[in-house]
Amino acid sequence: MQPIPDTVTLERAPDGLAVRMIDQTLLPTCEQIIDVTTIPDLCEAIRMLRVRGAPAIGCAAACGVAMAAGRSTAGDLAALQAELRQVIADLAATRPTAVNLFWALERMRGIVETGGDAAALRADLEAEARAIVSDDLDRCHRMGRHGAELIPAGARILTHCNAGALATAGYGTALGVIRAAAEQGKVVRVYADETRPLLQGARLTAWELCRAGIPCTVICDNMSGSLMARGEIDCVVLGADRIAANGDFANKIGTYGVAVLARHHGIPFYVAAPISTVDYALASGAGIPIEQRDPTEVAELGHFARCPVVPAEASIYNPAFDVTPAELVTAIITEKGVARAPFGESLGQWRK
Ligand code: MRU
Repeated sequence: MQPIPDTVTLERAPDGLAVRMIDQTLLPTCEQIIDVTTIPDLCEAIRMLRVRGAPAIGCAAACGVAMAAGRSTAGDLAALQAELRQVIADLAATRPTAVNLFWALERMRGIVETGGDAAALRADLEAEARAIVSDDLDRCHRMGRHGAELIPAGARILTHCNAGALATAGYGTALGVIRAAAEQGKVVRVYADETRPLLQGARLTAWELCRAGIPCTVICDNMSGSLMARGEIDCVVLGADRIAANGDFANKIGTYGVAVLARHHGIPFYVAAPISTVDYALASGAGIPIEQRDPTEVAELGHFARCPVVPAEASIYNPAFDVTPAELVTAIITEKGVARAPFGESLGQWRK
């Protein structure tokens, strides 16, 4: 077993605050820790998926607001607040689907607008960012405890994308459930969909599971149906980027297909996500904005080592996420407990 570096933290560098992260675009071949010290660089890191996964993006954005406040030369409160409103707007424009980004930025905005003086505001923002990161880790552990109860002994589990330590402040949502079940000796094997086009399953989930000593087999995205048909998957556990009030949810492209296959084969389909991923303002998944990404991600294999695999004349469709209807979901595992249909009621009980 080998530890995993922190996904994202707020650090006190000699010249001021920095957002420290492991650059996930380089995994699994290179473990590079980077310190981000400007908002344009942080926006680039979020857009390029150096830091990714719904809760981790929220943590990075919160740390970014605190970092910008700490480094700002604004002398008075009004100037600092004006700068930070722009910082929040810039960070909010990076990726549209994961609601945790907006949830974390709204928490930071609440502090920005409380007033006081500039020094107190800087200190409060730093404390809030640290609280968002440490709360997220705590939520993952609680989710793991609730979710492990659903996993049968001897489980062979399918997951999609990466909803692990790398997608959160640590431990993971779906992988947190799997880790907790593995600690109880229940997990025989995890099948990780490779997750085209950016290979979060192959590059990140497999790396995390190998480090945790949990048996893991990577499969291409088109292989899970045949494994299900052979009776080799006992349940599906994966994460979410945004859950509507009725339980419809967005997650990495390909999730919907896995859900349909699981239903066809009578396999339990579990979603693990913190309450910060629930967008109570959205009645259904139809309103979830879906990020469209650069066609080169599909046209070329490899994140950086670019190998063209599609004729230049072909058009390309590259949505980063899809929406799975609540009717295909067996249960949603949150830090508060396990929600089952009707999700409007079960999730609704935890609305603040
Ligand atoms: O594009 P990504 O890598 O940010 O997509 C991540 C996912 O879809 C995850 O499954 C989701 O954010 C849940 S992470 C706990």
